[in-house]
Amino acid sequence: MLFKGVLTSISLAIAAVTTVVAVPVKKTLEVRDDEGGDQTNGLTDLVAWDTHTLKINGEPLFLFSGEFHYYRLPSPGLWTDIMEKFKALDYNGVSFYFFWGYHSPKKGVYDFTGIRDVQKAFDAAKNTGIHVISRAGPYINAELDSGGFPSWLAQMQSPARKYNPENNAASEEWLTEIDKYMVANQITKGGPIILNQVDNEFSYNTDPKYMEMLKAKFLKDGMEVPTIFNDAGPNGNFAKGPGSVDIYGWDQYPAGFDCSNPLAWPNNRSTTFRDFHERTNGDQPMAIYEFQGGAFDPWGGPGYPECYKMVNEQYAKVYYKNNYAQGVRIQSLYMTYGGTSWGGLPKPTVYTSYDYGAAISEPGLMTTKAYENKLQATFLHTVKPFLTTKHFDPESDKRDIILIDGLADVNTPTKFYIAQHQLTKSEDKDEFHINIKTTDGKFEIPRSSKLILNGRDAKILTTDYAFNSQHLVYSTSEIFTHQDVGSHDVIIVYAYENEEGEFAIKVKKDKSQVETDDDSVKSETSDGILQLTYKHPNGTTPVYISGGTEKELLILVAGYDSALRWWAPYTEEKKGERALIHGPYLVRSAKKDESTIAFTGDIDETTDIQVVLPDGVKFITWNGESVKLTKQDKHGIYTGTLEFKKPDIKFTDLTEATWKYKAASPETDPEFDDSEWVTADHLSTNSTTPYDTQPILYADDYGFHTGCLWFRGKFNGSSEITGFNITAHSGDASAWTAYLNNEYLGGFDVGNHAFTDLNGTKIKADGENVISLLLWTTGHEDDFSADENFKQARGFTQAELLGVYNQTIWSIDWKVQGNLGGEDLADPVRGPYNEGGLYGERNGWHLPGFPDDDWEDVNIPESKNRTGVSWYRTTFDVNIPDGYDVPMSLRYKDDTKTRYRTLLFVNGWNMGRYGNDLGPQTQYYLPKGILNTQGKNTLAIGVVAIDEAAQLGEVVLEPYKVLQAALPEVELVDSPGYDTRQQS
Ligand SMILES: *[C@@H]1O[C@H](CO)[C@@H](O)[C@H](O)[C@H]1NC(C)=O
Ligand SMILES: *[C@@H]1O[C@H](CO)[C@@H](O)[C@H](O)[C@H]1NC(C)=O
Repeated sequence: MLFKGVLTSISLAIAAVTTVVAVPVKKTLEVRDDEGGDQTNGLTDLVAWDTHTLKINGEPLFLFSGEFHYYRLPSPGLWTDIMEKFKALDYNGVSFYFFWGYHSPKKGVYDFTGIRDVQKAFDAAKNTGIHVISRAGPYINAELDSGGFPSWLAQMQSPARKYNPENNAASEEWLTEIDKYMVANQITKGGPIILNQVDNEFSYNTDPKYMEMLKAKFLKDGMEVPTIFNDAGPNGNFAKGPGSVDIYGWDQYPAGFDCSNPLAWPNNRSTTFRDFHERTNGDQPMAIYEFQGGAFDPWGGPGYPECYKMVNEQYAKVYYKNNYAQGVRIQSLYMTYGGTSWGGLPKPTVYTSYDYGAAISEPGLMTTKAYENKLQATFLHTVKPFLTTKHFDPESDKRDIILIDGLADVNTPTKFYIAQHQLTKSEDKDEFHINIKTTDGKFEIPRSSKLILNGRDAKILTTDYAFNSQHLVYSTSEIFTHQDVGSHDVIIVYAYENEEGEFAIKVKKDKSQVETDDDSVKSETSDGILQLTYKHPNGTTPVYISGGTEKELLILVAGYDSALRWWAPYTEEKKGERALIHGPYLVRSAKKDESTIAFTGDIDETTDIQVVLPDGVKFITWNGESVKLTKQDKHGIYTGTLEFKKPDIKFTDLTEATWKYKAASPETDPEFDDSEWVTADHLSTNSTTPYDTQPILYADDYGFHTGCLWFRGKFNGSSEITGFNITAHSGDASAWTAYLNNEYLGGFDVGNHAFTDLNGTKIKADGENVISLLLWTTGHEDDFSADENFKQARGFTQAELLGVYNQTIWSIDWKVQGNLGGEDLADPVRGPYNEGGLYGERNGWHLPGFPDDDWEDVNIPESKNRTGVSWYRTTFDVNIPDGYDVPMSLRYKDDTKTRYRTLLFVNGWNMGRYGNDLGPQTQYYLPKGILNTQGKNTLAIGVVAIDEAAQLGEVVLEPYKVLQAALPEVELVDSPGYDTRQQS
């Protein structure tokens, strides 16, 4: 995703590309309309496109996609859960970024097993019928450590994201590995991948030869689906010429990433996409491969609840519908499920939770925005003429206040009118009218009611639309979906509660009858048009029209809140057939046989439901159990109740648990044996960070890349030495502490500190002195601007003695230590981002089964202020019965803001970095699979005092929500214990 930067596009003189590649010839398959026919990349016809949309297996579709990162949910069983939720929200696409560093701890070493098994991610998408956009980078950004690059790449001398032998070899090494999976999972091989992205947001310091190299590599390895590029804004990079892709697109984050003032939207959304697209790649569908679906939040930020307010369902209405009005027909919402940047996954600016304020929250819960996205997606998949439109400028009133975009289908008379406030952030309530031209005449709509735009809303109004056996003249309510249920047709329309609506349908005779219980409904028929006016209820009102249309028509008029809870899952029986059900929190699937529809889904309380059953269907089941239905009327509407049975959930009260404590910074003791540590003796570096003194004290150069780092420096004492000058270099929210001969000297943010006037006090004049430095790092910078920023050092740029002038005589001998084994991971199962270099981590104190019997018994909250690094261990039980989804968390409760940081290990997995002095995150998600939800778990917390000592506050287990759920089976993730650890 985009790091918000100034979007100045840098155009480089494009050097002649000499790479020889067998470039496939694009071909035109057939001519469908006057705008050119279908195009392909010459490698496959299964994914084609025209000027409007993609065509998968020949079928045009709106690609309604969302971003999901398997590495941000380290429990493969839950990938299916998230894909089912995408499906339930009627997404037909998912975008996967593949994270090079997650699979490669060391040059030449790759791992695709366990939580890294990408095949399971493809299977989860495929089994739920979701198309995949694959985005393997090599650079991805995504607020990940080094923007997704492996840590070892920082030692490369040559620039990344550039055409040069060293970088080409590194990129090809990665692509060779990931392509094995991607090639086999393309649609051409029966898999879910339909599009393949080349690099990402490569919009600064671009290098077309590098892009050509990547394209050639994908081609050579067997990638056949069309290539795409995600430009960092509509700048035209790689749309044409060297490095260009099959279907160009861009990303866009109009609300930005500062959630601290969530209601302060920008004045205007983009109205220039259409012109830009026409100029840039008008022969391709308009594609936004990342559109803002939420926002990330930095250390010390306002927190995700504020991001939910900023990028809320109103934002989804206004901005996404504006995209459709502009012509976007491929849209991927970044993020749709954000998840967790566990361990050392994140780059420095962001903390552990990557909830992102996304449609599906970090613990997998529904939000209002998720339901809004479903309203839009289902409309886009239902109302096919919307796929093939041309823009026009309709006649309307209030044009200075209300913008109406007209979209006319090129194949049928259907036209759409998308209404929104000119001033995007307007909160005004405004009435407006549109002059429409239909095959049934010209009208100013609404004709006898009020059509309003109430603040931050946008509406897609449909006119002149033949659906099922009906002909809609116009509707001022928005359409959710419609369905032929046999004896009659059903359409669901909606607007905010109490807003008036008008629905006009063609009738053959002026004798049609309107049946409804709702007094607000008025009907009038003239010139073969039956017009209903009504007020949108708080709920859903059935209105039944008989005697005039070919088949009778049931109109379900819903208020907005009620519309959010209508679901229209495909029934899996007949292509395109949907079941209609109202009420549940989540409807995952529907399966129809002769007389029964079997629904699966989740509820959070006893839920009254309405279903509209097709002819012949008499029964429904919910998660396998039959539901007693009451027939409401003769139009197929039934009601029933899904009973929520309160489960018996048990989990340990951690304030009552027995905890074990052990002090854990022996490195500060001069007697500590560091003979096994790596000697820091490099005199040069490939890092971009300038150094002031030698040897180089950049941990990455010695193979240590993640988490806490220790540096120990020894020097011979002298009465001349007055102190030392140390400068730490690391990312946002990093901190370091310094000790001399076991004495605490201070804890600091990154930057310089001179320790002076220590002669005659702390510095021994005779014999050896030992400086111990502990650096709390927060990952590596990204490479958004392709400027090598990810090669910034983590360590110290300067370490010199004060008072002496000949630094070669009076030098400090340094040793460095990070995670056990460095790039040769001690724990390959949990991978390169799980462990850092704390004593407890190196010695497996975070692992299940570590023998802590001889540790001190303590209670949490701690009663003592403990110096240095402290470790706490306990076990806890969780019991969540089958049939329930109760996502769990661990929450820190400490209002002191004293300076300490913690690492939270559950069953050996580093599920969170906590900054008591930073915030905002206090609650950490423990996904099922990592967490044993039916048994015992091991909890270990490493506490790093930045002040001299720290007192750990209260720690509690807390469920986010209790759902009676059709959660797919989630196996426990392999969590090796202490007994399996390689002892060093
Ligand atoms: C710098 O890069 C060159 C070329 O990749 C490599 O040979 C050298 O070892 C690197 N230097 C360091 C200090 O990592
Ligand atoms: C709809 O009715 C429910 C239940 O009475 C109420 O809680 C809710 O606020 C109402 N919504 C609107 C938009 O009026």
